[in-house]
Amino acid sequence: MQLIHTVSELRARLGNEKSIAFVPTMGNLHEGHIELVRMARARGSCVVVSIFVNPIQFGPNEDFDKYPRTLEADCAKLQGLADVVFAPSVDEMYPEAQTLFVEPPPVANELCGAFRPGHFRGMATVVLKLFNLVQPQIAIFGKKDYQQLAIIRQMVTQFNLPIEIVGAETSRAKDGLALSSRNQYLSAEERTEAAWMSRTLQDAGKTLAGGSKDYAALEQQAVSALAKRGWQVEYVAVRDQVGLGVPAAGESKLVILAAARLGRTRLIDNLEVCL
Ligand code: PAF
Repeated sequence: MQLIHTVSELRARLGNEKSIAFVPTMGNLHEGHIELVRMARARGSCVVVSIFVNPIQFGPNEDFDKYPRTLEADCAKLQGLADVVFAPSVDEMYPEAQTLFVEPPPVANELCGAFRPGHFRGMATVVLKLFNLVQPQIAIFGKKDYQQLAIIRQMVTQFNLPIEIVGAETSRAKDGLALSSRNQYLSAEERTEAAWMSRTLQDAGKTLAGGSKDYAALEQQAVSALAKRGWQVEYVAVRDQVGLGVPAAGESKLVILAAARLGRTRLIDNLEVCL
């Protein structure tokens, strides 16, 4: 495995590769990331993992400064799985101030985008830059960040990028909590409580699968259930799986998405429901 910090070294290393499978990350790798890398291993002959905490996708009051940076431990986890780890500095990725951005679709201002203004613009911009640098045939993203995955799929289609986007199922702890680097911000008590987000989504999923069409009532019920337990809920929303719009009548591929805070930690999760 080769650790590369610069764009010139990366281009020199990947120039002759014909089949690259790419996993973009912000590091602090957990089992969920490693599962994505295993999938990449099975799909491409050269596996590239990027580790870059992207400043332009964080809001001014978000956790950019305290986001855990654990490059050495990450590289140890990737030994034998990745061929190249690309870990650029902020100056290497942004040698001049970024004044051109990917303008994401209107859905980027809803759901998480309503609470994290500019997040998806910064995310899509860095993903496009990484795609241009790595030039993969396949890129793998976790479904935990469902809205991110939907926006990346639209970007790849609308910008004619020759990249197959693969969405991987969310890796979970035994109690159902979706794995996330931010889980480590939780206190022991909050960590026990955190499993209630996926339990609440499962309950809502059963109601949906049982034939309920009153999405607003179902969303409100889930919000109240979490709020009663002390969560500060940002949203629970039933959407269609592809464009994340409010489902049209008869839509059968649905997803319930949620974001809420436990103390100072913001958690997101979702559940696909096919009727
Ligand atoms: O999901 C993430 O870790 C980030 O949003 C990504 C895709 C690596 C872009 O910075």
